[in-house]
Amino acid sequence: MFKKRIAAVAAGLFACHALSAIAADKQVEVMHWWTSGGEAKALGVLKDNLKQRGYSWKDSPIAGGGGEAARTVLRARIASNNPPDAVQMLGFSVLDYAEQDLLTNLDSIAKKGDWDKQVPAPLQRFSKADGHWYGVPIDVHSDNWIWANKKIFDELKLTPPQTFEELVADADKIRKAGYIPLAHGGQAWQEATIFDSAVMSAGGPKFYNEALIKLDPKALGSKTMEKAFDQLRALRGMVDPNFPGRDWNLATSMVINGKAAMQIMGDWAKGEFASAGKKPGVDFLCMRYPGTQGNFIFVTDQFATFKAGNERQAGQYAFAEAVMDPKVQAQFNQIKGSVPARLDVPADGFDECGQKSMADMRTALKNGTMVGSFAHGQAMPEASKTAVYDVVTHFFNSNQSSGDAVKSLVTAVQNSK
Ligand code: BGC
Repeated sequence: MFKKRIAAVAAGLFACHALSAIAADKQVEVMHWWTSGGEAKALGVLKDNLKQRGYSWKDSPIAGGGGEAARTVLRARIASNNPPDAVQMLGFSVLDYAEQDLLTNLDSIAKKGDWDKQVPAPLQRFSKADGHWYGVPIDVHSDNWIWANKKIFDELKLTPPQTFEELVADADKIRKAGYIPLAHGGQAWQEATIFDSAVMSAGGPKFYNEALIKLDPKALGSKTMEKAFDQLRALRGMVDPNFPGRDWNLATSMVINGKAAMQIMGDWAKGEFASAGKKPGVDFLCMRYPGTQGNFIFVTDQFATFKAGNERQAGQYAFAEAVMDPKVQAQFNQIKGSVPARLDVPADGFDECGQKSMADMRTALKNGTMVGSFAHGQAMPEASKTAVYDVVTHFFNSNQSSGDAVKSLVTAVQNSK
């Protein structure tokens, strides 16, 4: 009898222990840099869905738009053999970590969810290595956008500029009326983001591809590239003196509050307008950067999961399924400002900017002109990206001529290979 009681107590204790072990395991640590108002709201959709699948979310946010700080922290976590379960990544990072054999293979989940068919091919280029799935795309942003304050545009009777010259003329009127023409944050990644648009505007998708994706020295050193730098120089003249170091979302606030008329930024900026209760077509306008109408420079956020034991892997699988859940993709992207990374999510529920973006993506897909963003790591490998960042940001913050910038661009890319 006594023995039986002991056994029962022991069994109870064991059950308790096992339960708490399960509780600890049923958690997924997610590292990301979505800390602005709009970003955090969008992330809430994914958190809720993961919870419904029986997993709690351990949040590891690393602030810093573009993800530079997050990438540095991740490297340290990997070096100490303690990577998070799931990590937000851009472009070549997924492929680099897959090559180092650090990531969980997600083929079985991908097969169940029909990812091969549903995820646009240009995104798959950064999700799959050697034919296997390692990255889970949650969104498709594009960064060749201008976000404008509608009240200022109405007051000055401005319409979306169709050419870069028109943009320059509009900026002049805006400045004369006492507003800052361009809200900008002086951080290398934000300058690189503008450069994406300038290169596309100067030369179109074919040139963009030759220069920033194929890294062809002829395209990099061309007169067309000089024109892209000329645009950057003109844009530099449109910003206020306090731009250095400013975070991107603070620049967006300047447009929201009517201090500045425009911001050139990826459509995560729309998430900020939306989270401030602003409506497209009423409070703000979304327009393609002049000369890039109908073009689509994509930025896709993907999550990669780091190899872990069986229990943690189950959580990673649940997380991957949550990311690719069509309902999550719809709600998340409506809030984030991006479009779904699956082709089977309907357009209704998206606002006019979101629907335009979806249409632009489909056109670019059909024409084979959907190109990856250099600024956000989906055009060239990391080493070249860093080298080009330096050239672009040096040019933007100095009086260097476009001709000299082009020369250093060619050399920088060559040395980085
Ligand atoms: C990411 C976006 C993010 C933005 C600003 C980009 O690199 O792709 O998802 O909103 O940085 O933080």
